[in-house]
Amino acid sequence: MRLVLLGAPGSGKGTQAARLKEHLQVPHISTGDLLRAEVAAGTPLGKEAKDIMARGELVSDAILLGMLEDRFSRPDTANGFILDGYPRNLAQADALDKLLQRIGQPMDFALQLDVDNELLIERIAGRAKAEGRDDDNPESVRKRLKIYDELTAPVIEFYRQHGQLTVVDGVGSMDEVFNRIVEAIAPATEVG
Ligand code: AP5
Repeated sequence: MRLVLLGAPGSGKGTQAARLKEHLQVPHISTGDLLRAEVAAGTPLGKEAKDIMARGELVSDAILLGMLEDRFSRPDTANGFILDGYPRNLAQADALDKLLQRIGQPMDFALQLDVDNELLIERIAGRAKAEGRDDDNPESVRKRLKIYDELTAPVIEFYRQHGQLTVVDGVGSMDEVFNRIVEAIAPATEVG
């Protein structure tokens, strides 16, 4: 199963991907987590990305594509993957399409978690208290939501036009949302 999880910051992509990974037995590839690992390790890429991420802005498309190509070259993606946090603009959607074609792994599902802004802000504020992520401050959250509306929302249209989009209601308990996702992807899971 090759699945891309779409949704605004705080919509539950990371939370649901962690569960889906067990359910589908495929790796969870989060571009946010990959970047945070680079920052934590203090690599040149991490040093370049650190302030951009803290401000809630997008890291360059070239860096992201290089990181993804590297990740997809690992053998654990042979049976599929859950991609979370990419693509975030139309250029990335196009690059991903080409990359997946090249490695013969076309996307099965683009699944959007739909959550209203008020709840997104509430969830991120909760995480800010619990975890203190650098970009969970009010100013960066505003920026991330604005970038999502301007640059990432068109990606949803892209997948809709390609007949690959499934929208799942992301409001409710983590179990409720998970069950909705499992139901949405069930037909593809049954045919393998
Ligand atoms: P990234 O890590 O992708 O962050 P994001 O998209 O802003 O997403 P979040 O992690 O905030 O939200 P989520 O949807 O995963 O929700 P979560 O499950 O955590 O990216 C960070 C940065 O990296 C970007 O701003 C950018 O700088 C850079 N970057 C990454 N990818 C990039 C790309 N492709 N191009 C360029 N730059 C890129 O849940 C949020 C909270 O809500 C948690 O506390 C959780 O416990 C809680 N929660 C989740 N579901 C529920 C529920 N059902 N009920 C109650 N609480 C819930």
